[in-house]
Amino acid sequence: MADVLKRTHMCGELRKEDGGKKVVLNGWVSKRRNLGGLIFCDLRDKTGITQIVFDDSVPEEVFNKADSVRSEFVIGICGTVRERESKNPQMDTGDIEVLADRITVYSEAETPPIYVKDDDNVDDNLKLKYRYLDLRKKSVQDSLSFRHRICNIVRNYFDEQGFTEVETPMLVRSTPEGARDFLVPSRVHPGSFYALPQSPQLYKQLLMAGGTDRYYQIVKCFRDEDLRADRQPEFTQIDLEMSFVEEDDVISVQEGLMKKIFSELMGKDLETPFPRLTYREAMERFGSDKPDIRFGFELKKLNDIFADTQFKVFSSVLETGGDIRGICIEGGADKFSRKEIDKLTEAIKSYKARGMVWMKIGDEISSSVNKFFSQEKLRQVSEVFGGKNGDLILIVADRPQVVFDSLGFLRREIAQRMGLLRDDDYRFLWVVDFPLFEYDEDEGRYKAMHHPFTSPASEDVDKIKEEPDKVRARAYDIVLNGVELGGGSIRIHDMDLQARMFEALGMEQDEIEEKFGFLLEAFRYGVPPHGGLAYGLDRLVMLLAHKASIRDVIAFPKNQAAQCMVSDAPGEVRDEQLDELGIGVKSNLQEK
Ligand code: AMO
Repeated sequence: MADVLKRTHMCGELRKEDGGKKVVLNGWVSKRRNLGGLIFCDLRDKTGITQIVFDDSVPEEVFNKADSVRSEFVIGICGTVRERESKNPQMDTGDIEVLADRITVYSEAETPPIYVKDDDNVDDNLKLKYRYLDLRKKSVQDSLSFRHRICNIVRNYFDEQGFTEVETPMLVRSTPEGARDFLVPSRVHPGSFYALPQSPQLYKQLLMAGGTDRYYQIVKCFRDEDLRADRQPEFTQIDLEMSFVEEDDVISVQEGLMKKIFSELMGKDLETPFPRLTYREAMERFGSDKPDIRFGFELKKLNDIFADTQFKVFSSVLETGGDIRGICIEGGADKFSRKEIDKLTEAIKSYKARGMVWMKIGDEISSSVNKFFSQEKLRQVSEVFGGKNGDLILIVADRPQVVFDSLGFLRREIAQRMGLLRDDDYRFLWVVDFPLFEYDEDEGRYKAMHHPFTSPASEDVDKIKEEPDKVRARAYDIVLNGVELGGGSIRIHDMDLQARMFEALGMEQDEIEEKFGFLLEAFRYGVPPHGGLAYGLDRLVMLLAHKASIRDVIAFPKNQAAQCMVSDAPGEVRDEQLDELGIGVKSNLQEK
């Protein structure tokens, strides 16, 4: 076994000023070239790469050993820093090299199945399987260290603000967040299951009942839902709860946190308070409850203009309580061909839209509906948007939600294609006044839009029974550049109100008792008014590190099919393990 050489520097550290120093470096061989009497070896660690040179000044055995190393061998070298003859401005250490006089090989490496370099074109699953090779890249290590720095700031900030970090259990009863649970069978209680927490929601409320006053936690949460770029089955929340507070108290603590992260990490002075939009306004202006406000293209309602129309598509939508809305893409007329517009029309079908009308503004307005409308009518539409020659107007008529979803998607998609989404332009906002309930068409009943402990606005309490649609929640989401970064609410601490809430949700006493009995009981013994919020940490890091997916900022993410490619989880277990748990797997599943 080779002794470990005590390193003096990391591989990304040395500069011209270090010329003449005796140094020791450890790392992975990134590249080795033998140019006859000279061996060049690029040595890599998480901070970068240094060029090492072996020449004929070293004993033959050292030279031969250097010649024997291959990519990904782990070695240590001793040597002297000197200025390079041909500098490499692409590298931080490109002005220097280390003339080695000693080499130790700690471990050899087989040819790796993927290369450790940034501009590779490797299949995602292969990359995830060999994640430890991918992790050797400086860019990936930088993301991990960036995430770590955010966590440090979060911990310091909440500490300064009088919060205590408390761990909550991972084996719990199902929580009411609304996604599917991951279940864990109990051996001690055969036939019974724990759930992995979708969030620490109930426990943090119990902490408030327990007098903790201000709690936070950087915590893993688990939700068995379909994956997307900003969704993983296990993800991390920055979760918090505060006693004796109202909305503005919770919100201002968060603005302070974001300000601190941005000033300490990004060198940016964020302007606070962040703008607030009501849910209604967000939907009507941007077609989304997590609007991206880096660009315009705001929605306008066109129902009045088309109130007396004979055009069947529009009139039938209006007769059935639907909406006609559009967006205007400034200067978009010559940027989108007919073919591209057809593709966009196709794309909004996934939001259940049946079609899209387009208009290109010029001295003459061309459109997909020229034969149904006079130029004067089309001009009226253009005026609603303040349209100018060269603008493109897109209109969708359908059920209100379909219209919002489709135009919300089109706004962002088009902005993306037109290069309007600068990722260093950070636009925060709060979305407030969410509806308390949403109607679940499949189940034919109302559901809590957030969770059943979210307090209704006091002015709306009387509408809970008769007009549930009109009740606003004391809930708030923090949104950054079109991504829901976090959400929270002021909770119900009045037991009568909580009972009315459960009743409105159509929950039977048994179900209430079974799911939340322990929380309700706790509240009977004195509970402070309280509220809180949880951020998606992965999403925050993704946006600040300018990554396309939260997978890029998680050390060992799951793939699109919710598998851990490194360990090949989930996997089958032995029959004895199942027997111990009293569990049988249905034979038809086993065959699959
Ligand atoms: P909510 O369900 O809105 O609220 O979750 C809070 C934040 O967590 C992030 N998030 C996710 N990130 C990655 N993958 C997922 N599958 C995923 N699901 C959610 C989002 C989201 O805004 N207990 C409440 C908070 C509260 O009321 O205090 C809760 O969990 O960024």
